[in-house]
Amino acid sequence: MLDIHCHICYGSDDGAENLETAVEMVALAYERGTRGIAATPHCDVPGAYENYWGETLHQKVLTLRAALRERKIPVEIYTGQEIFCTNRTARRLANGELITLNHSRYPLVEFDFYEFAESAYAKLRSLVAEGYVPVVAHPERYAFVSEEEDAVFRMKTIGCLLQINKGSLEGRFGREAFFASRRLMELRLADAVASDAHSPYMRTPNMLHTHELICEEYSYDYADLLLEDNPRRILLNRDTVSY
Ligand SMILES: [Fe+2]
Repeated sequence: MLDIHCHICYGSDDGAENLETAVEMVALAYERGTRGIAATPHCDVPGAYENYWGETLHQKVLTLRAALRERKIPVEIYTGQEIFCTNRTARRLANGELITLNHSRYPLVEFDFYEFAESAYAKLRSLVAEGYVPVVAHPERYAFVSEEEDAVFRMKTIGCLLQINKGSLEGRFGREAFFASRRLMELRLADAVASDAHSPYMRTPNMLHTHELICEEYSYDYADLLLEDNPRRILLNRDTVSY
């Protein structure tokens, strides 16, 4: 499996606090079948995390890769960010302050949980207009997605991909996110499932049970598409496929 959303860029946000914890998270993911992880710290969040791309973040990725090599944990670490999407996002991607997943055309973007639908669509459209394919992180967690039936179709029509959090499928983010994630699965509108892991204990990067859940409740092919095939296509800047 490949995990395109994980907070292992230690000491940058509310994810792994230090290198040791990040290594512990990757080791756990490896034991449970994950072979590649994008390090996606929150960034450009007003009043919270800035984390603009540069030497500090890059060095953390390099240090994490070296620590994994030393401990013989063969998990590929990809660069990325979980970008708080604003009207400035396209400009900041263009000038290098923000980066996409593994320097592909796919930026991972998030919104305020109470973002207005039209405002989200406008921001997503501005990214698509510049040639990006936004990967919307955990759409099932936004109020406008639970409240407006056509929101997920609108985002797909704009040209976005939708990344469900593994915890939502298990009901860990409340009823609304649970039902919204299940609806996305049933409508076959999900493009990827990721861990959005923040720690080795709670919200972990273990996606094995997620794979099993999707196999049991949907199909093996769907699990493979969401946890392996499409994530790989995104990281390699290839077109994704629908189920
Ligand atoms: Fe996240």
